[in-house]
Amino acid sequence: MHSKHSLHPRARVPRVAGGSDKKLQDDLKESGNIPVHIAIIMDGNGRWAKSRGLPRIAGHKEGVESVRDTVEACGQIGVKYLTLYAFSTENWKRPHEEVSMLMRLLMRALRDETDRLHQNNVRVQAIGEISSLPREVQDELLDAIEKTKTNTGLNLFLALSYSGRWDLTGAVRGIAAEVLEGKITPEEIDEPLISRHLSTANVSDPDLLIRTSGELRISNFLLWQLAYSEIYISDCFWPDFRRNELYNAIADYQRRERRFGMVSEQLQKGKRRGNFVDRFLKNVSG
Ligand code: FPP
Repeated sequence: MHSKHSLHPRARVPRVAGGSDKKLQDDLKESGNIPVHIAIIMDGNGRWAKSRGLPRIAGHKEGVESVRDTVEACGQIGVKYLTLYAFSTENWKRPHEEVSMLMRLLMRALRDETDRLHQNNVRVQAIGEISSLPREVQDELLDAIEKTKTNTGLNLFLALSYSGRWDLTGAVRGIAAEVLEGKITPEEIDEPLISRHLSTANVSDPDLLIRTSGELRISNFLLWQLAYSEIYISDCFWPDFRRNELYNAIADYQRRERRFGMVSEQLQKGKRRGNFVDRFLKNVSG
């Protein structure tokens, strides 16, 4: 029999939740709906590092640990889509040194984590202006996407060089081109059509948006897609965010009543008549 130390670090078996964590997950599944799509603005890496007298990159590095734990827990509880805001269009304006360290970290994280993601049945995808990333990052990303493309568990979307306005601009361009080519008329432009032209086409809109570090901003994230998302602000910095904080966010989400502009009584009546909320969500997210 192998000792723990004889295992190659990559030769990990898929991890399943055990002990008290399994119990927490089961309780969460029983207490209400698990959000289909969770989007996260991972904020506070720099401040986490500063508060410890460490360089900013130390915060980003610890942030990768939070990514790992959050992805794993989301997969285990049955979240279908997880979108992580890993690098925004605006982040290119940071000091050159920080940008290049972040890119290197991203490349290494993709290289080191892809096998584990694959073993955990996670499908990796990306949204954003991927062609603007350094070649080596693009290569690792494409490898991860290719390797995991037939996985059927959690769909992990990495938002890289992404912004909501970039996404909407691309959609408007695509639609304008179709009008010019005579494929559609301006009258045929409706909300589902716009959704289909965004980088998140075929993905339901986020049910829950989590932002860490206590800031109250959307920061140019999924501007169109967040129209009806429930927002949960966590006070902890991203490197301190682990699965227990994720469970708190989901438990909070389960206590909300999602009215989509209607009144409570309509929802109660609708529920008695069938899955009204599901039909409504299908309509708004195209
Ligand atoms: C925000 O903190 C965080 C980022 C801009 C980068 C997030 C990147 C990671 C967590 C690492 C790589 C990710 C993956 C998907 C492997 P901040 O620097 O804005 O913090 P501050 O507001 O305290 O300065």
